[in-house]
Amino acid sequence: MVKPSKRVEEFEKMGFGMFVHWGLYSQLGRGEWTYYHHIRDMNEYKKLKDTFTAEDFNAEEMVLTAKKAGCKYITLTTRHHEGFSLYDTCGLSVFDAPHSPCGRDLVREFVDACNKYDIVPFFYHTTLDWYNKDYVNDFETYLEYLRKSVEILCTNYGKIGGLWFDGNWNKPDDDWKLDELYGTIRKHQPEAMIINNTGLGARGEICHPEIDSVTFEQGRPTPLNREKMSKYVSAEMCYTLNDHWGIGYSDFNYKSPKELVECLCDCRKVGANLLLNIGPGPQGNIIPMQRELLSIIGDWMNIFGEAIYEGKPYESHSIGKNFILKGDGCLYIFCYDLGPEGMKDVIVGGKYKGVYAFSGIKDKVKSIKWLDNKEELDFAQDGENLMVNFTGSPYGTSYLVRVAKAVTV
Ligand code: GLC
Repeated sequence: MVKPSKRVEEFEKMGFGMFVHWGLYSQLGRGEWTYYHHIRDMNEYKKLKDTFTAEDFNAEEMVLTAKKAGCKYITLTTRHHEGFSLYDTCGLSVFDAPHSPCGRDLVREFVDACNKYDIVPFFYHTTLDWYNKDYVNDFETYLEYLRKSVEILCTNYGKIGGLWFDGNWNKPDDDWKLDELYGTIRKHQPEAMIINNTGLGARGEICHPEIDSVTFEQGRPTPLNREKMSKYVSAEMCYTLNDHWGIGYSDFNYKSPKELVECLCDCRKVGANLLLNIGPGPQGNIIPMQRELLSIIGDWMNIFGEAIYEGKPYESHSIGKNFILKGDGCLYIFCYDLGPEGMKDVIVGGKYKGVYAFSGIKDKVKSIKWLDNKEELDFAQDGENLMVNFTGSPYGTSYLVRVAKAVTV
């Protein structure tokens, strides 16, 4: 099978990233598609620029929130479908942050903060545009505007992790001149990842030979069949904390830490990255609920992160959701739903503890310990079958997914 390039390998190793959807729409608090669903009048909508101060946007705080959660990269919406750029478009358009009361280049602040704290900056960039009339009236001219916009992002901010495009699905039959767009990136940022969101309906699709990673939107990613691929592409799944990408004040449907941690593990099971989204408030403040959810994931990552970063897909079988990843001289055994153990009149949990069987284990196991408290686990290996006795989570803990490390010969 084809081997991943260095950039793809590094991308896969990062494993977990933070997505940020923030733009003029955030001032209305009803999702990033509010123009399309509620307004449909750009003369009206563009007034949001006049009240955009970004006074609560603190790039360092955002980067540290991601870092604390265990994210290694952040993908920021430098321009979303509304057409407003958080960066200085250098004269290409007046619909950008420097021309708003904010008067700053927010992408510059973002990149500086990323570099300071060793987080890799990625740029989300829309291809669909509700503001630029050429998108509808003169597509060729629009594509040149898009290409120049991307060129600015590739030349003004130092080394970036990659570009994340979104919107081609809006004009599926048009020629997007991708050779030129992607060629511009390769010219200025040869090591940057090129990602294009193929949309909800086209999960895991490769739309162009330059694409480095396919996308999955919401749910769970499926394993990629790389046998017929001429080049190795990675996979990334993006996921909302509730039901919208841009902040929705009346969207109460937040996911639980259990769902989020399980999702991260399920992504890694098939070798995909998880890109978990936050939607900051009107002027860039991070919403407390979103910060808290990320911080719980961070607490979990502090204990089990090694398995998330180091573990690679491993062909083996198990009953239920449990699975194994391969690390360097070891296996990581992911165990779901153990629940806390304790006095039976007090604690409801621990019901799934006990012996679990795995098959297809080609490595010889020497010892197995929980990653958290290093307790040794009893096991037996018979050929490719491995039986492990999972003790429950000790009283006082409940790990959602608990990971054991098996040292192999
Ligand atoms: C969709 C939406 C968009 C969002 C993106 C994130 O394509 O159009 O609003 O940014 O998904 O994956």
